[in-house]
Amino acid sequence: PPLDTLINSYDFEAVAEKTSSPKTWAFFSSAATDLISMKLNKEAFNRILFRPRVMRNNKDVDTTTTVLGIKTKIPFFIAPTAMAKMIHGDGELAVSKGAGKEGIIHIISTNSSAPIADIISAGLGPKNQTHFLQLYVNSDRSKTAALLKTAREAGIKAIFVTVDAHLAGKREADERLKVDVPLKSAVSGAVSHNDKKGGGMGRLMGLYVDKTLNWDDIPWLKSVCGGLPIVLKGIQTAADAQLALKYKVQGIVLSNHGGRSLDTSPPAIFTLLELHKICPEVFDHLEVYIDGGIRRGTDIFKALCLGAKAVGVGRPYLYALNYGSEGISHLTQILKDELETTMRMCGVNDLSQVHPGLVNTAMIDHL
Ligand code: FNR
Repeated sequence: PPLDTLINSYDFEAVAEKTSSPKTWAFFSSAATDLISMKLNKEAFNRILFRPRVMRNNKDVDTTTTVLGIKTKIPFFIAPTAMAKMIHGDGELAVSKGAGKEGIIHIISTNSSAPIADIISAGLGPKNQTHFLQLYVNSDRSKTAALLKTAREAGIKAIFVTVDAHLAGKREADERLKVDVPLKSAVSGAVSHNDKKGGGMGRLMGLYVDKTLNWDDIPWLKSVCGGLPIVLKGIQTAADAQLALKYKVQGIVLSNHGGRSLDTSPPAIFTLLELHKICPEVFDHLEVYIDGGIRRGTDIFKALCLGAKAVGVGRPYLYALNYGSEGISHLTQILKDELETTMRMCGVNDLSQVHPGLVNTAMIDHL
């Protein structure tokens, strides 16, 4: 269907399901075992209600904010996802181009199908567009040091270290279908293949990831990141948020990896509420982002009201990539438009005015 007939993020998903090969669809849409976390990610947002304020003169609204001190037009970012070329020939290059046009931050995966420098130059270039790099630490740490040097030289502005996927979850839809054409990541060098367990792309392309990574490695990480801000992606408890604070990283992404890692791990919005109860001081010292199940402007706004500085959107951008950079652009405009509508309806003109009093979490507070 023509792009202008797609009016929400689910429309992109429906097109992707029809047009992708079975293996591509299995890799991108799948999640761990019984898909409980993936489904709960979305359902949790549906159980948070608004407490809209009225009569606030909402003729103009402003969605700009900062992420790690960097200005962005939009309080959501494109979450890192692997092997975009499976969806569209231009892969991550098209994502970058669309992101540049819309002023949205793009986080490049360590398992990208294109090289970092090419992705950045496909957009507006490092001066005019913000790219971050998601990092899977390699068991061969010298490879990670080299990758980070390349990333800094290419103009990457921050490193998001993924901490919830040192091994991949059991994604059964992906395991069941064999890889027919092996693909290689241009960043990590990992190659998709099959083994006796099946064809799980995430599992087999993640074999290089260092399982020994631990909190005492943070000083090493800081040294190889060469002063770039470090964000830990995949924090799921208040206790680990407190450790992130203790080890002085600049940010955390509360995330269960879109339900792809450990099934029945909590939706990020639960963890966000847990932080408010147990360690509210975290919000004063580092930036907190969340991802997983964000499909609507209302979801984005709820997260911001509950203290997230910005949120990540994963699968919808992969599905939008069916339409190349224009799909990326169109989906961004849809989500931004939904967010602006939500802001107006809640009586908020800019993002400095959001606060927890705009939402009612009673339906999930007992969980
Ligand atoms: C991911 N995600 C991911 N995360 C990461 O840190 N490095 C990666 O390479 C990938 N790759 C990846 C591939 C695919 C196909 C998916 C769907 C996801 C996780 C991603 O960054 C994010 O946490 C979730 O996708 C967020 O959930 P939603 O928005 O997809 O529901």
